[in-house]
Amino acid sequence: MKQVTVPVISNAEIIPQVHLLSLEAPEIVAVAHPGQFVMVRCGESHDPLLRRPLSIHRVTETGQIALLFGAVGRGTWWLSHCRKGDHLDLLGPLGNGFSIQPISRSLLLVAGGIGIAPLVFLAENALSAGYPVTLLMGAQSASSLYPRSLLPSHAKVAMTTEDGSEGRLGMVTDAIDDLVEQIDQVFACGPVSMYRSMATKECLAGKPVQISLEMMMGCGLGACYGCVTRTKRGPRQVCHDGPVFELGEILW
Ligand code: FES
Repeated sequence: MKQVTVPVISNAEIIPQVHLLSLEAPEIVAVAHPGQFVMVRCGESHDPLLRRPLSIHRVTETGQIALLFGAVGRGTWWLSHCRKGDHLDLLGPLGNGFSIQPISRSLLLVAGGIGIAPLVFLAENALSAGYPVTLLMGAQSASSLYPRSLLPSHAKVAMTTEDGSEGRLGMVTDAIDDLVEQIDQVFACGPVSMYRSMATKECLAGKPVQISLEMMMGCGLGACYGCVTRTKRGPRQVCHDGPVFELGEILW
């Protein structure tokens, strides 16, 4: 884990209120693993006091890191106004990340809304390692779907929208049953309601399913116990023991 001050390369609103921020951060890229996150200071002073945890969205061979975030609060609103040449203070990479089981041959990645954030990095790594990847994305409507042009070109893509304006009509979890038969391992990121629905799906029973939990965090370092979740092995810190857990391990 490193603390670095890095320059902003670009910052664009790619979906209404969702920004894609690129930074020059070779020290973090060198050790980053899909599913890990960084803690970002969102202000020029210590106000707001707490850093924001943001998943590593993708990395480049030339040392750039991309973060995808919704401008939903004071910290991320400040972040959404950063411009090329500004500098940001990052702490990371943090957390445990996803792990592909050696026996897996085909992977399904399920993204609920902005849950696509850590899955693009995972998809790119898996594809370059030779795994076939199916990426299932769900959103409220076509206008809130992550742009297809930014997805890894070799991934098979399926989409759902709640209003039917693109892809299959319905929730992202509705489409899992049709896709999962030939799949060895599932990875997901999205809201808790999506995980609860996945936990009841017969088609996922017996399959390895890893999920990335999103949670408010204080320190991101395992020090404040502000991010505890209940698991079958007892309480666990999302920042230190996660954010990636087995779906069947979490007590909802
Ligand atoms: Fe402090 Fe996890 S955020 S222990």
